[in-house]
Amino acid sequence: MTETSKADPPARGGMGPTERSDVGGGSDARATDARPWWQDAIGYEVYLRSFADGDGDGVGDFLGLTERLGHLADLGIDLVWVTPFYPSPQADFGYDVADYRDVDPVYGTLADFDRFLAKAKALGLRVLVDIVPNHSSSLHPWFRSAVMEGHESPYRDYYVWSDPAPDGGRPNNWLSMFGGPAWTLDERSGQYYMHLFLPEQPDLNWANDAVRDEFLDILRFWLDRGVDGFRIDVAHSLMEDQTFPDDPPSPDLPDGQQPETFGDLDHVYDLDREETVDIFRDWRVVADARDAVLIGEVYLDEPERVAKYVEGDALHESFYFGLNALDWDPAEFARRIRHANDTAPGGWSWVQGSHDEHRAVTRYGGGTVGRERSLALWSAMFGLPGTPFLYQGDELGLEDGIVAPEDIQDPVGFVSPEDGRDPCRTPIPWAPGPGNGFTTADEPWLRCEQRPAGDTVQVQRASDGSFLNAMRSLIAARRSTADRRFGGVEWWDEAPEGTLAFTRGSIAHVVNLTDEPVALACGDGWELVHATGTVELDGAVISLAPRTGTILAT
Ligand code: GLC
Repeated sequence: MTETSKADPPARGGMGPTERSDVGGGSDARATDARPWWQDAIGYEVYLRSFADGDGDGVGDFLGLTERLGHLADLGIDLVWVTPFYPSPQADFGYDVADYRDVDPVYGTLADFDRFLAKAKALGLRVLVDIVPNHSSSLHPWFRSAVMEGHESPYRDYYVWSDPAPDGGRPNNWLSMFGGPAWTLDERSGQYYMHLFLPEQPDLNWANDAVRDEFLDILRFWLDRGVDGFRIDVAHSLMEDQTFPDDPPSPDLPDGQQPETFGDLDHVYDLDREETVDIFRDWRVVADARDAVLIGEVYLDEPERVAKYVEGDALHESFYFGLNALDWDPAEFARRIRHANDTAPGGWSWVQGSHDEHRAVTRYGGGTVGRERSLALWSAMFGLPGTPFLYQGDELGLEDGIVAPEDIQDPVGFVSPEDGRDPCRTPIPWAPGPGNGFTTADEPWLRCEQRPAGDTVQVQRASDGSFLNAMRSLIAARRSTADRRFGGVEWWDEAPEGTLAFTRGSIAHVVNLTDEPVALACGDGWELVHATGTVELDGAVISLAPRTGTILAT
């Protein structure tokens, strides 16, 4: 043991571990009655193009997803988020929507979507669809009309236009997140249109009530089909200052240097506007009427800034991105998680990655160590208020896929290969061999190296010691303790650096993220429900092997 702590964990008005008779099982009224369904759910992100190809064209689709839903039910998933499947020229692989109320033929038809939804429901899975309100595709009929008919078009004001600056140049210094300026000239009208992403992704004008009405209608369209809520793409970016002032340079930019990339600006006028939160208050009325959940991609560094989106009557939750840009750092991870939780309790969808980042196990050092770190971290995330979301392949402990430079598909990868998102988007390996059971086509849409047999679902399912089975057992332990895990988090204040230890209701999660063994005082009366590694519970002291998470009950 390298570290010991004399923590007296459940002090703050909570139930001490010796009062176990006070808290029973599922009948406790405090446990679940008042809690919305998503606070007990485990979510799973399906990146549809790369999940399962049912029709053999190399691209994942609804047919393939429907056939493979058993994998998710078996794993213990409750809630599936499907990335955009709408008709799209795929300039940003579906995040450029040309029709918000249909399915792209490459993914199937609306009838295929309905079959997918019906099977998901039959398996007890709820479904979120991904709404992209910040921008449409430049091939959306709204934008086509806005360009072709100019000021005569009823859709002209659906987009964000500006006259050129007095010198004839761009209206201001705003930059695109994907590189280059955020303005493109429409030669027909002589005005510029704004785009936070690609020129093929023109920003919608949320100052226009007609746009607001369209989206309320789009939400109802999918709710009427039976979905259980929405993942909201770049939710913090809908509104911008309508007078288009220059953004100041980022405080991190050296004096005198010209802002060249998105990160060089302090996004005062184009992101995180207070008025954006109001938009979601209208969405919330629609969602609450159907008991549906709204989860935003509010990609802001400070939890304090995200909090306003998830407090009160706006969104229910935001994804937590605070760890994704960091190298593995147990003390900093623990500090950030605690700070985020305490800043917006219950307001987070806890993630380790997504279709936009390098895979978590890769970022956590790769190999067995990376996988153990990831699993230990999940065992903490599974205890916090909010909804954890696995990204497809997280349950297999996958590292980044290998994509040759000539096979890059992601528009971000073209501009900056090291930031390219292809490595996390390679197909799910279902089985050993060519195509990895993902497709029967000669090549998947994203050419990549074949995965080793040990990475595949088929092999991992059959192996007791696999990551998949470890994840399944952790999810089962979370589920079996759900009724006894309630209320806010009571941190064990003296937990050593790099550990996360907390009580909720009569359940505790004690997690050692460090590479050293750790022992801490836990008080009497705990029983071990689950451990991801070697743990000893000896009287009032718990000892955890490196990179090990536990669930305790009293
Ligand atoms: C979000 C999506 C990302 C997409 C971008 C533009 O960040 O997660 O994949 O490229 O929005 O829609």
